[in-house]
Amino acid sequence: MDPSLTLHPIGFIRTGKEVKFQTPHQPSEKNPEQNVLELLPDRGYETALQDLAGFSRIWLLWWFHRNQTWRPLVLPPRGPARRRGLFATRSPHRPNPLGMTPVPLLRIEGRKLILGACDLVEGTPVFDIKPYIPAYDAFPEAAAGWTDQVEAELSLPAAFTVHLATLAQLQAQWLLDQWQIDFRPRLFELLARDPTPHRTRRIRRRGDTLFVIGCGAWRAVFTVTGPAVEVLSLETGYPPRFLNNLQLEALPDRDAQLAFLRLWPHW
Ligand SMILES: C[S@@+](CC[C@H](N)C(=O)[O-])C[C@H]1O[C@@H](n2cnc3c(N)ncnc32)[C@H](O)[C@@H]1O
Repeated sequence: MDPSLTLHPIGFIRTGKEVKFQTPHQPSEKNPEQNVLELLPDRGYETALQDLAGFSRIWLLWWFHRNQTWRPLVLPPRGPARRRGLFATRSPHRPNPLGMTPVPLLRIEGRKLILGACDLVEGTPVFDIKPYIPAYDAFPEAAAGWTDQVEAELSLPAAFTVHLATLAQLQAQWLLDQWQIDFRPRLFELLARDPTPHRTRRIRRRGDTLFVIGCGAWRAVFTVTGPAVEVLSLETGYPPRFLNNLQLEALPDRDAQLAFLRLWPHW
């Protein structure tokens, strides 16, 4: 048998999420978003969709097409900063970068599948669709390895208190009032849990006393004193040379970031 295979996408998904951090690590059931998987024409796929409409959920098998490399050990975003064997994780960096996601199937319109929340970026190639069958696919009692331990730790009360200094408060209020942007809940959740440097959680040191965390398209600069985290200021995630370059892929919150930089230049 030839050890390599050639796969052809059956279609591409439109999620409107151009950059990876806009997608969740796993899709949230609470998110009311809609996404569209459009299958390619002239291949009989309309017929292959027959009888699928009765399933409220389907599996998508897809390709992490934005990734080029893989590593045997990876740092999962949740839990302590500990590397895990790749095959014990759902990391996108894999030798064969195949993704699998069970998504709500809302309806079918010809070759288009209207889907609920999912964790794929815009334009991701999809290779297959299968019905999600609870009797075969759901095993709620199954042991979930190291993730069981992480979930148990995350259910304990948060170890740090988080406070916004005057400038950070002013900036957060301006973002909310002018642009309806509020990443404080996510920021507080991450920092209250563990503010130590962590590559996947986008926390790093800045100099001797400061830390910076990336939160969506934004950043926050903070200090840690014992169990107290103080957020000193907010920053844009992208420098002006990116924000002003319209050739670049759609950058999230581009206009808000440019306006923010006019008030608080920091690059
Ligand atoms: C942790 S993976 C899990 C994917 C899938 N549910 C699985 O278990 O195989 C989800 C992440 O993959 C990334 N991602 C989504 N689409 C991608 C693509 N086409 N290429 C590379 N990375 C992608 C996003 O950062 C998203 O948060």
